[in-house]
Amino acid sequence: MQNSEVFILAIESSCDDTAAAVLHNDKVLSNVVANQLIHNQYGGVVPELASRAHQQNIVPVIDAALRKANVQKEQLSAIAFTQGPGLMGSLLVGSSFGKSLSLALNIPLIAVNHMHAHILAHFIDEEGYDKPEFPFLALTISGGHTQIVKVNSFFDMEIIGETTDDAVGEAFDKSAKILGLPYPGGPLIDKYAKEGNPKAFTFTKPKVPGLDFSFSGLKTAILYFIQKNKQENPNFIEENLNDICASIQHTIIEILMDKLKLAVKETGIKQIAIGGGVSANSGIRTTLKESEAKYGWKTFIPKFEYTTDNAAMIGIVGYQKYLSKRFEDSSVVSKARIQF
Ligand code: KG4
Ligand code: ZN
Repeated sequence: MQNSEVFILAIESSCDDTAAAVLHNDKVLSNVVANQLIHNQYGGVVPELASRAHQQNIVPVIDAALRKANVQKEQLSAIAFTQGPGLMGSLLVGSSFGKSLSLALNIPLIAVNHMHAHILAHFIDEEGYDKPEFPFLALTISGGHTQIVKVNSFFDMEIIGETTDDAVGEAFDKSAKILGLPYPGGPLIDKYAKEGNPKAFTFTKPKVPGLDFSFSGLKTAILYFIQKNKQENPNFIEENLNDICASIQHTIIEILMDKLKLAVKETGIKQIAIGGGVSANSGIRTTLKESEAKYGWKTFIPKFEYTTDNAAMIGIVGYQKYLSKRFEDSSVVSKARIQF
């Protein structure tokens, strides 16, 4: 088969979204995600419920992805699946399905590192979207990850900074919980922050050396701040919600920007690509765009559907691996933690 005729079916099931996508070379034909709303009532992802929901969703989601792409199973060149990192019970559903289908169709099986996929999502071919050039810096920010990665090529990347405790998405979600907002609270903080004063309240930023992050101290600072103010005024949250959210968001953005500035200084690389659910945050997007004029950076912010967990990003890595024949045999195993 010619390289110009590569069709990849990609499966992503590392956390609480069951996703499948079909790619024709580096173009996305379909990108289907079934979100698991069941977790919202528990205030976070319940692993046992996630794997059960994946089992229910996986067949209809893959079927929908093939139908939307108008691609027959027999046309597929390879199956790509998320090998890790993630929740073991969730990963197993996607990998078992992928293995079985590749055996049944007698086509190659490709294992994808979820974190590489968040970064390489920038190489999905989209009209009007410039791709970064190697080397570039990737800031991956989500409910499970916070990393700065130096990306030298498709398969050569190194983590130069990461969180030592909570991920930045957790900082948003846990702060929201303290304010009595439902899970996931990140998008709500973003919404209220738009109407608030980011300088209304100040929270101490963590002092972490080098390019690493820490967010657990911020969460504690916010908790004490709220407790103290509520003692004086029981309606403190309701009366100041917009300003509190704007101030929390402002602090988180400053923490991220301080480290990015340091990373640019240390590496001399001025191309910054972001990924992960938190990159949907409007404050982060605006601040990054402003950095282009302010610091001479070039920033890359992909379409929203490629920043949150999705299978198109697994498919683009699958396509690159297909071109260099990086295939697995059926003994490949899922990994909750995986070497970068
Ligand atoms: O990448 P993602 O969909 O799933 C993983 O965690 O892997 O990211 C979800 C995270 C949640 O913590 C959610 O609160 C956060 O992304 N998030 C946001 C926004 N939209 C989603 N955080 C801040 N502002 C947003 N607009
Ligand atoms: Zn993710």
